[in-house]
Amino acid sequence: MPEAELRPLYSTAEIADRLHQMAGNIAGEMSPGFVMVAILTGSFVFAADLIRALAAEGCDPAVDFMILSSYAGSTRSSGTVTLLRDAALDVRGRDVLVVDDILDSGRTLAFAQDHLRARGASSVRICVLLDKATAAREDHCHADFVGFRCPDAFVVGYGMDHDHKFRGLPHIAVLCQ
Ligand code: IMP
Ligand code: MG
Repeated sequence: MPEAELRPLYSTAEIADRLHQMAGNIAGEMSPGFVMVAILTGSFVFAADLIRALAAEGCDPAVDFMILSSYAGSTRSSGTVTLLRDAALDVRGRDVLVVDDILDSGRTLAFAQDHLRARGASSVRICVLLDKATAAREDHCHADFVGFRCPDAFVVGYGMDHDHKFRGLPHIAVLCQ
């Protein structure tokens, strides 16, 4: 296979600026006792920076994680979402902010939202770093807080991988194969 080419999409500085704006919006709209549930693995860098940007806005949410999988080493979603690890916190009666890297078809986030509502969360809002311009979007999933628009291409870096590679890139890049 030829070497993959990486085309820069959003720089480290652009990401940092946008996260501070997003944290301000989230702080203004979420209730003080909200729970942040980050979807692993792709959101771990975003969630780590977002929680610190939220702290700068005076927010101190509880943090938990769910592991959901739908890609299994490919650049196309398998279409089936598997819950590999549930959030450990009791979310009953609490406002939840689900944090993920990318809204693509929406299946992963629709699954997380349905699951957390079924566990008794009072509200479940969605925050994504990237909103992908895809024809595959299922219309029942919409993000409340969005970092950037993303072209309908496969992107890596800033926590996002292709086959377990590129997560440590400090910026977001399009993977051209
Ligand atoms: P969806 O279920 O189709 O919305 O896919 C969302 C999940 O797929 C995200 O949580 C990402 O982990 C992953 N994903 C979607 N597009 C990309 C991409 O371009 N690069 C890396 N991961 C992606
Ligand atoms: Mg993911």
